[in-house]
Amino acid sequence: MSCLRQENQIWIDMNILVTGANGQLGSEMRLVASRSADKYVFSDVVDLPGVDTLILDITDIDAIRKVVRDHDIKAVVNCAAYTNVDKAEDDVALCTLLNAKAPENLAIAMKEADGLLVHVSTDYVFGGDPYNTPCTEDRKGTPTGVYGQTKLDGELAIQASGCRHIIIRTAWLYSEFGKNFVKTMLGLTATKPQLNVVFDQTGTPTYALDLAETIFDILENRKWEGNDGIYHYSNEGVCSWYDFTKMIAEYAGNDTCRILPCHSDEFPSKVIRPSYSVLDKTKIKKTFGISVPYWTDSLKKCINNLK
Ligand SMILES: NC(=O)c1ccc[n+]([C@@H]2O[C@H](COP(=O)([O-])OP(=O)(O)OC[C@H]3O[C@@H](n4cnc5c(N)ncnc54)[C@H](OP(=O)(O)O)[C@@H]3O)[C@@H](O)[C@H]2O)c1
Repeated sequence: MSCLRQENQIWIDMNILVTGANGQLGSEMRLVASRSADKYVFSDVVDLPGVDTLILDITDIDAIRKVVRDHDIKAVVNCAAYTNVDKAEDDVALCTLLNAKAPENLAIAMKEADGLLVHVSTDYVFGGDPYNTPCTEDRKGTPTGVYGQTKLDGELAIQASGCRHIIIRTAWLYSEFGKNFVKTMLGLTATKPQLNVVFDQTGTPTYALDLAETIFDILENRKWEGNDGIYHYSNEGVCSWYDFTKMIAEYAGNDTCRILPCHSDEFPSKVIRPSYSVLDKTKIKKTFGISVPYWTDSLKKCINNLK
């Protein structure tokens, strides 16, 4: 079936596969994609009660090929990943399989189908060099841990595959769905009398719904043509995890918890997190003509949605 989407241009509706569709970003993709004339197929490695999910393990290339063939998939949005940054340090093999090999599988399948891969990566590809200005896409990746390194390897594998691709690095993702920093801090600031939160790591939070809207806009309006490459997307602004927590507590009305700034070395961890991983979003805004909400506005929206 074809339909007219833009003056003088006829676009054919297409079938789009979303992987990791029961995670934070995948769940937001489900919400925004309900507005589309395209057919979205939502997949994950496990079922979620009450949610329509095609079971697909993206570490299995034959399984991917079968889904692509059976559903005539022309684009994949990869929201699946190994996202536990601390655990990754001890789980190198699985983290590598999911963050480096699986994206390569998807890229090969899309190359074979002459389709598009939209892949999501991370600000944690940076951090090893002491940057203090927002990171542009062409800045050399210097990961500080296994998670960041495997995500960088995934990007390189996609680029090497020769498939059409849009790689979007994002940061500090939160959503109404799944486990995340906002939900954890909503609980802690409601129940604890005092909380120490690091102020020596600087970045930008990203409401997964805002990122999902951006991915949807690129796909829905066929904006990817001729625009292969890496892009950065987070919300606007800059903060530390301490500032982030202060705003979470304020918007939730949790005013009994004393929130104090502390240093990262007060929380012993196997992984060194980037001290500065702010993403420069100039390229994505210019290329796709999008506007990006300010981080506190989006945080307020998410907390209201959670209420
Ligand atoms: N979370 C962040 O703060 C953050 C920051 C920067 C970038 N990112 C990137 O943003 C993207 C989305 O992150 P997210 O927070 O939405 O992730 P998430 O909530 O952890 O969701 C990932 C989903 O992938 C699924 N999955 C795991 N193994 C799979 C497999 N073999 N095949 C298919 N699906 C599998 C997971 O299932 P299980 O839950 O059952 O494992 C989960 O449903 C990722 O690429 C991540 O690296 C995230």
